[in-house]
Amino acid sequence: MDWANQPDPFRRYAGSARVALPISRPDATSLHNEASPNYADLYRARAIGSAPINVDSLARFFENAFAITAWKQAGDVRWALRANPSSGNLHPTEGYLLVGDVPGLLPLPGLYHYTAKEHALELRAQWSKESFAALLREFPPHAFLLGFASVNWRETWKYGERAFRYCQHDVGHALGSACFAAQTLGWHMLLLDGTADDTVAALLGVDRTEDFTGAEREHPDCLAVVWPVDQEAISGAETISLPLCLEPDAVPDAPRHIWHGKANRLSQNKPVCWEILDQVEVAAWKPSTERTVVQSNHHSPASDAASDQASVRAPGMHSRARSANQVIRQRRSALAFDGETSISADCFFTTLARVLPRVERELCERPIPWNVLPWVPAVHLALFVHRVDGLAPGIYLLARDPAKLPALRAAMHRPFDWTTPPGCPADLPLFLLEEGDARQMATDVSCHQEIAADGAFSLGMIAEFEATLQHHGAWFYRRLFWETGVIGQVLYLEAEANGVRATGIGCFFDDPVHQVLGLKDATFQSIYHFTTGRPVEDPRLTTLPPYELDH
Ligand SMILES: Cc1cc2nc3c(=O)[nH]c(=O)nc-3n(C[C@H](O)[C@H](O)[C@H](O)COP(=O)(O)O)c2cc1C
Repeated sequence: MDWANQPDPFRRYAGSARVALPISRPDATSLHNEASPNYADLYRARAIGSAPINVDSLARFFENAFAITAWKQAGDVRWALRANPSSGNLHPTEGYLLVGDVPGLLPLPGLYHYTAKEHALELRAQWSKESFAALLREFPPHAFLLGFASVNWRETWKYGERAFRYCQHDVGHALGSACFAAQTLGWHMLLLDGTADDTVAALLGVDRTEDFTGAEREHPDCLAVVWPVDQEAISGAETISLPLCLEPDAVPDAPRHIWHGKANRLSQNKPVCWEILDQVEVAAWKPSTERTVVQSNHHSPASDAASDQASVRAPGMHSRARSANQVIRQRRSALAFDGETSISADCFFTTLARVLPRVERELCERPIPWNVLPWVPAVHLALFVHRVDGLAPGIYLLARDPAKLPALRAAMHRPFDWTTPPGCPADLPLFLLEEGDARQMATDVSCHQEIAADGAFSLGMIAEFEATLQHHGAWFYRRLFWETGVIGQVLYLEAEANGVRATGIGCFFDDPVHQVLGLKDATFQSIYHFTTGRPVEDPRLTTLPPYELDH
């Protein structure tokens, strides 16, 4: 690792107009002068009224999605932590906003780059009102676009060949983070997953080599549409149809807009070339656009009843009475666990229920954040349970899509138990595979990291691999990692809401995981690890506030 060449984690576009976003105080109430929403309300349909789209609500959105949440200091060294986590804290993911004429921003629709260091938006391109309206014609009123692109070099600098995968994990976390931030404002989000990568690149301007001269390039990731749910124009309808891509006739306009700013250089020297990573990028590029349509539920009265039931069922409510903003902004990765503290079975079961993308019968759609990802879920959890009250330590499996249970059973070791743990809710597809002390095993498969053994539980995310890629194409490889990142984001927030802490584990050994489970071919593939427990703080670190409040 070449320390002198470490890339700057903050991208800026020199020469572009910058709009500083207001910063809320930690105890700020919501934009409607109501109390800040409860964390548990994030999961209840219609519990949070939609905030209008203006500079204050967008500022709040970015604050909860991608902003700096604290600075840490050890000796003379200082580093920023953000609402979204990142492998190695290198933050390859850049966020973009394509929004209409919004009070407080510049007076035309425009594409902006979000810069976390200043909590500001930099204008990249001006759009005419007509072309912006045409682009989003098929979406609800006041919809805007979020764009994601990755400076892969930030991860390659440290992790070499592993970097591409880590960037994809980070995109998934950023998607999850944005979805929860949107939900705090009563906004919904949908990944425009039918969009070709060429289109994403053109709309975000990351294909404009003239703006990246001497600067590290950005790989286009994806676009998502965000909209306030309870807009009058669509009230009364129970479901709305949304396309998974933009109006094709409006897209070619993008390169003709007036562009502003030049990307800054992040490393002192040119990026080191990794041929294999270039090959992977090409292989995983999404070549075409598909015009698939999804149905989105627009909260009928029946959905209220359903969500109320869900909130009554949810155990551990005392810890969930925390404000959503607080849970989101205090999210941190644990550096170490105490190796002692257990969590309640209730808390464990509720956490696992949150990662289930099942369609709720009364709602007719998936709960957040699973309504963001429009594909059939393809990732399951192999859990190493160490300290959960009332549960035997051992290896467990959570089938996130119970329809895949027969395939999972067929692929794994024959002698596994497949019994339902005591107290497990009937609708939670959780199974004990093998009882026993799994601490050493968990450490070994997670690159010998003790955080995999010292917490309450750790896990490997097992993707339906070969068939999924054959079905969709190689470009879907990135989506599998995005799905794991969203799962990770749910686990991070659940841990905070339950008074414990989590950590993503990108460093693990897949072959030993496969051996433990009996997986022999590429039908299933372990692609991300995670751990949760009682954290031990490092007293050498000082925590500083994210921004000066007179910003
Ligand atoms: C995809 C991913 C992989 C990670 N892998 C590891 C890991 O293997 N070991 C570890 O201790 N932390 C790991 N982390 C935690 C990061 O180091 C952490 O997110 C980063 O330092 C920022 O800190 P924060 O999460 O407190 O904001 C990972 C995080 C992500 C998102």
